[in-house]
Amino acid sequence: CGIVAYIGNKDAYPVLIKGLKRLEYRGYDSAGVAIMNNADIKTYKKKGKVVNLQEFAEKHDLSGTIGIGHTRWATHGEPNDQNAHPHISGDGDLALVHNGIIENYDVLKEGLKARGHVFSSETDTEVLVHLIEDIKRHEKVDLEEAVRLALSSVVGAYAIVVLSKEEPNRIVAARKSSPLVVGIADNNEFYLASDATPIVEYTKNVVYLEDEEIAIIDRESGLKIIDIRNREQTPYVQQLELELEALEKGGYEHFMLKEIYEQPRSIYDCFRGRLNVEEGWVGLGGIKDYERKLVNANRIIMVACGTSWHAAQVGEYLIEDLARIPVEVEYASEFRYRNPIINENDVVIAISQSGETADTLAAIGLAKSKGATILGICNVVGSSISRVTDAGSYTHAGPEIGVASTKAFTAQVTVLTLMALSIARKKGTLGESRLRALLGDLEAIPAKVEKVLEKSNIVEEVAAVYKNAANALYLGRGNCFPVALEGALKLKEISYIHAEGYPAAEMKHGPIALIDEEMPVIVLATKGTSYEKVVSNIQEVKARKGKIIAIITEGDVQVKELADHYIEIPDTDENLVPLLATIPLQLFSYYVAVMRGCNVDQPRNLAKSVTVE
Ligand code: G6P
Repeated sequence: CGIVAYIGNKDAYPVLIKGLKRLEYRGYDSAGVAIMNNADIKTYKKKGKVVNLQEFAEKHDLSGTIGIGHTRWATHGEPNDQNAHPHISGDGDLALVHNGIIENYDVLKEGLKARGHVFSSETDTEVLVHLIEDIKRHEKVDLEEAVRLALSSVVGAYAIVVLSKEEPNRIVAARKSSPLVVGIADNNEFYLASDATPIVEYTKNVVYLEDEEIAIIDRESGLKIIDIRNREQTPYVQQLELELEALEKGGYEHFMLKEIYEQPRSIYDCFRGRLNVEEGWVGLGGIKDYERKLVNANRIIMVACGTSWHAAQVGEYLIEDLARIPVEVEYASEFRYRNPIINENDVVIAISQSGETADTLAAIGLAKSKGATILGICNVVGSSISRVTDAGSYTHAGPEIGVASTKAFTAQVTVLTLMALSIARKKGTLGESRLRALLGDLEAIPAKVEKVLEKSNIVEEVAAVYKNAANALYLGRGNCFPVALEGALKLKEISYIHAEGYPAAEMKHGPIALIDEEMPVIVLATKGTSYEKVVSNIQEVKARKGKIIAIITEGDVQVKELADHYIEIPDTDENLVPLLATIPLQLFSYYVAVMRGCNVDQPRNLAKSVTVE
């Protein structure tokens, strides 16, 4: 979900609506705003996209210089007008927006009901606003204190912003495990948001709230921060490095397409300054102090979700093959509820584009409690994961707005390649010349990605043939097995076609039953160790009349002849193939989704950053 808020001397609504559009990638089931004017609060909420809210709200009075807004990804309660945020307290005094989950909301709700509170939605958020109201009335305290006391009895994750009619010149906000950024502009103007994207066009001075901090922003006295135990904190003002252009579509029809096309640049930005081919040098500055630990690790455990989990899978092949350290890849959501065995010489690596995924954060928490060293690979600078890990490497892919991850994935794989190579260099598991050759090949990847992108018209033609498919199968072996998984995920996410990724050899143990003349089978059949085996798997599909779309190495003849369609990618070291082979699969799902009329950047039911478990 996304939060935006404003307090200053201009009208709040334009800031809120623009901010919500920027945040929409975080959730778009419903949206709402509340605007305070002359000790009155007006609230407008609508199911669906932010434009629905805009159409509705703009028929009404929107004046007021203090306001809060929210775009939602539903957890408790279906997405409808009622369940949308902001939520209002029973007496109408308070308006509140919330990200996260109040885990003990049931208990709190029962208590409040017993005291006469009546609820109009099914959300945990409404419980919170009633709780604040209840405390404010019974304890006769101001908003700041009521919020502080209420949060002391809450279990869960939250980022909240609250308004009270009785205090028409201030905003109170707080965070725990769900991010909140305060932007400070000239003239005592303040912006609040769940990430910096709605703020960057107004100011670059920001304060990231820490867990269990409460920000009180007053029109007269400005920003004050206290912690939940009521101790005043000194705000740490940082400079945003984000540029506004990075948040715009820049002439592309969709963010996803823009981000696919940014990959030559984003991969380059990711390895820039981290390798030197002539010197045979490679290193990740952010984890320098932990290099020894990695080199001597008995085992590396990677935790991640979604696409980041697929990157981790590629990382497993890279680190095992090049650096000879055993790697285990875990879904963060599974890892956190097991009783995982972590030994002293194990290193845990958490991978996350957003750096906010709740399950990944919780997995880190668990690993920490067992004394593990935890490194992060994140894209969003200053994100929660980047702050709770011992050290880490940023992927430097720039803001990724399309919900389906593309350039963040290839950047994650690039960081993992650098990591594998730098461990290998220190451990001496690769010969000097092999290391140099690999570094040279990595440096050549951006230009090769460019060449793959030139094939987009071919991919588009193939997409046109299969756009009405009901199912699709993706096959790969070795490090292309995770590429197959990622290809299938992309198709599912944005085109809603059911797709499965499988290790090519496993097909005969089940999925082969699905194959008929309707079934497109996307096969990663590039040159390498498993090439001949993959050719046999293609034969198996063809014998059942399945349709083959093959990703092949330039110059290949054998698969070219067998396949119904082929897309060529430049030759590279086998370890680096995922960086190229992923690109046509991204384009394929993109074109299929566009042809099916799907909302590519905001697919149904999904959110970019899942900050709830
Ligand atoms: C969501 C997004 C995916 C992403 C996953 C993990 O499901 O829609 O694109 O891969 O979360 O997110 P993270 O930010 O931790 O990489």
